[in-house]
Amino acid sequence: MVTLPAAARLRGRNVLTVTDLGADELTSLLALAQTLKARGREQMTLLRGKTLVMLFEKPSLRTRVSFETGMTQLGGHAIAATGTDFGIGTRETPEDAARVLSRYADAIVYRTHAHAPLVRFASAATVPTINALSEAAHPCQALADLLTIRERFGTLQGLRLAFVGDARNNVAISLAEAAAMCGVSVTFAAPPSHRPSDAFLAKLVKLGAAHGVQARAFTSPVRAVRDVDVVYTDVWTSMGDEQFVERNIAALRPYQVDGELMDAAAKHALFMHCLPAHRGEEVTAGVMDGPRSVVFDQAENRLHAQKALLLALLTDLRGLTE
Ligand code: CP
Ligand code: NVA
Repeated sequence: MVTLPAAARLRGRNVLTVTDLGADELTSLLALAQTLKARGREQMTLLRGKTLVMLFEKPSLRTRVSFETGMTQLGGHAIAATGTDFGIGTRETPEDAARVLSRYADAIVYRTHAHAPLVRFASAATVPTINALSEAAHPCQALADLLTIRERFGTLQGLRLAFVGDARNNVAISLAEAAAMCGVSVTFAAPPSHRPSDAFLAKLVKLGAAHGVQARAFTSPVRAVRDVDVVYTDVWTSMGDEQFVERNIAALRPYQVDGELMDAAAKHALFMHCLPAHRGEEVTAGVMDGPRSVVFDQAENRLHAQKALLLALLTDLRGLTE
């Protein structure tokens, strides 16, 4: 008898936030992604005849191309629409769009602005909906990030990660949740205006309770990165928030990740960024393009992590385990 991995329980489910996954399911997905990565660009037939519909209401390079490439490598097909092509919320409600798309597609990938319409969409869809980034969460990025950290250190349990900059944004939130679920302690370095709430910090500790995870926010970037294994940053202004650019630059300038800040972390510390990056703003070119940067591994791992996710949502995983 084949023992199926915990990720097999994900079949048919939605993934809108990292916490839609159980800790064992998340760990199992990472293992599956590692297996798929080892198989390289091998053409598989596990998703033959399956169609993924993708809608990007904001720009995307990595998410869009890695999902489409992943579907191709797994033997399925992806259709991408951008901007207001579908007119969700203007031509029709999120619920109606979801009901219709569910009649055609086997899964839906949706990048949108506010999180609430995504939840409405997913609740009416009868096929899995994957959040490809909303204002509140970026779970696919977090999967790739944890995969990258695990392959570099060989483990996750007991590691420490610092997120520096806009610590309330989608990437920070999903990364911190995934980290806590995998036993990685998290510190945030942010001014009061960009600090995660105490309620969120308490939630992180609860998520990581079984692993002794700590979650703390500091205003001092040097204090936050002390002894950490990973220093992570993201853009100071997320898509859709462009009216706050000046305010964010003023508040976050002291939080630029430069060589000096990297030197305050552990000697072996990695630099991570979800990309796209702005050299000279949240990170210096020296760090971004330096030896500790693993940003392009992260970008590659989007492909492997999402292939694992697609297989878990759309198959019973026997095709990989038998
Ligand atoms: N990191 C990420 O999600 O990249 P894109 O916005 O290019 O998809
Ligand atoms: N926080 C960024 C991530 C981009 C991948 C944004 O939402 O624009």
